[in-house]
Amino acid sequence: MMNDTTRAPKGLVLHSMAGYYDLLAGLITLGRERELRERLGQLATVALGESVLDVGCGTGSLAIEAKRRVGESGAVHGIDASPEMIAHARRKAAKAGVDIAFDVASAEALPFSDDTFDVVLTTLMMHHLPRAVRELLAAESRRVLRPGGRVLVVDFERPANKRGGLLARLHRHGHVPLREIVDLLGRADLRVTEMGSVGVSDLQFALARKPSSIDDRSERTTAIQRALPPLPRPRWALPAGLVALVAVHLIVLRSAWAALALGTFALVGVGVVVVRHVGLAGGISAILRRHR
Ligand SMILES: C[S@@+](CC[C@H](N)C(=O)[O-])C[C@H]1O[C@@H](n2cnc3c(N)ncnc32)[C@H](O)[C@@H]1O
Repeated sequence: MMNDTTRAPKGLVLHSMAGYYDLLAGLITLGRERELRERLGQLATVALGESVLDVGCGTGSLAIEAKRRVGESGAVHGIDASPEMIAHARRKAAKAGVDIAFDVASAEALPFSDDTFDVVLTTLMMHHLPRAVRELLAAESRRVLRPGGRVLVVDFERPANKRGGLLARLHRHGHVPLREIVDLLGRADLRVTEMGSVGVSDLQFALARKPSSIDDRSERTTAIQRALPPLPRPRWALPAGLVALVAVHLIVLRSAWAALALGTFALVGVGVVVVRHVGLAGGISAILRRHR
């Protein structure tokens, strides 16, 4: 049964952000967004000929990666509550020459029949939803999945105090603890098979399976814990990220003071990186030691 899609979507729907979202994603991943999307496609083991739904697809980057994996014989749908995001995703898919069905819809009322998809993806979006809606999304994901189908949930973990670096400190985003994701998937009768860290920023994943009719309902699945190796960080990423961050704040906040403060911060940051990489710090401290 399909659900009612006429109600207003609940959660933090991104409208004006659509035009800058890819820039921000590039910033948060320090230029490794493409590698991140490839990794997520691998994690969900999206394969040739499968049908995939990306819930809260944003500008469609992961849906495009999924389409590359399922090929001509497979099908990819992306939904988002933001018409601006969907318009952006359609343009991107057309540019990439891939055929993906993007629609404006709510995560809590997916406009698809039961047992439609092999894979449901929902990345970086749980933290946009109120708790009750997260439960609805888990139940809806289960409903539209075929028996034996997989759901991949990826979101930010609460940053550990001393980690995260300068960029993480400047750009704070919401988070959902992995434990909470695992619990809510379990309550929706989805069996978590793997969980752990994605290897980029504070991103964590949980991969779950909808039980099939031949599954033993009483059997308990123990999830495999995995920490994927960190994606290598390009050397230019931090200075470029700081400059992009200033640009985003300047455009989005339209605040000269924010831009000035961040600009100064960025210059200091670039200086620190240059000093570290060129090795000036060692040279200066050696000179200071000699003159003491
Ligand atoms: C941070 S973005 C993540 C986009 C994409 N999944 C990614 O990995 O980059 C969160 C998206 O969730 C969408 N969203 C928020 N609440 C929603 C809801 N109730 N139903 C559908 N989409 C929603 C927002 O409009 C936004 O595009």
